[in-house]
Amino acid sequence: MRLQGNKILITGATSGIGEALLNKFLLLDNQIIALGRNAEKLKNLAERDKRIIPFSCDISKADELDKLILFLEQNHADTNILVNNAGIQYNYHFAEEPQLLGKIEQEINVNILAPIKLIALMLPMLKANKNAAIVNVSSGLGLSPKKQAPVYCGTKAGIHIFSKALRYQLKHPKVFEIIPPLVDTQMTAGRGKGKITPEQLVDEFITAFRKDKFEVNIGKVKLLKFINRLSPALADSIMKKGGEK
Ligand SMILES: NC(=O)c1ccc[n+]([C@@H]2O[C@H](COP(=O)([O-])OP(=O)(O)OC[C@H]3O[C@@H](n4cnc5c(N)ncnc54)[C@H](OP(=O)(O)O)[C@@H]3O)[C@@H](O)[C@H]2O)c1
Repeated sequence: MRLQGNKILITGATSGIGEALLNKFLLLDNQIIALGRNAEKLKNLAERDKRIIPFSCDISKADELDKLILFLEQNHADTNILVNNAGIQYNYHFAEEPQLLGKIEQEINVNILAPIKLIALMLPMLKANKNAAIVNVSSGLGLSPKKQAPVYCGTKAGIHIFSKALRYQLKHPKVFEIIPPLVDTQMTAGRGKGKITPEQLVDEFITAFRKDKFEVNIGKVKLLKFINRLSPALADSIMKKGGEK
């Protein structure tokens, strides 16, 4: 992939991994369409750099996705990279959670339905532009789940397998997947040990992105995959006890 001169849409650009990706892509001289729900943070981002185009959008809502696509078609039809990064994680016991149905719906909508819909809606645009790519952010927990977040882990397993199968079908745009380990962001605030920074993740990803390495195992995910090959049961028992917790 060519790393400069792109127009890149990043979902969840207002925080954590998405914000670190935004910062890195700016340094590499790209334009960024920054998505999130937090209007205040989007405004602050846009004031920092005129190459940041803020767009407030709740990706779990179909009408907001439609407005986004109209905005892109009318103003930014040259968008050539889509980064599906936005995500949420709820930790709860399935048999004891009082808000169970709402949480199931929200996690599935944000983590898997919206990214797949965005790809579908943006595909004609991506196909029409050079150096086009789709980048999906999954998780090590999509390979071996933790006990506390069954729906989250299910959505990440889904986006992992979806990315692989979509890559079989598409050569242009190229389909990438970032598989992060535990990263120090709002999502993991107050829990977990041995976190890497979002900037470390982004540096590793960019090296792979440049070389067209499509499935990007970040940090300890490389070890997780190695253990998984030797003993899937051992990998599962390590991740069951903790993983992102
Ligand atoms: N942190 C980790 O250890 C870790 C590990 C593996 C995978 N991941 C994955 O990495 C991705 C980024 O996570 P993070 O750790 O950077 O989390 P984060 O700091 O909590 O950021 C999540 C981002 O998603 C956006 N978002 C959430 N719901 C949204 C919605 N309905 N519509 C639009 N945007 C929405 C948030 O923006 P607004 O609040 O402005 O809407 C925010 O910018 C996620 O897919 C996550 O599953 C994280």
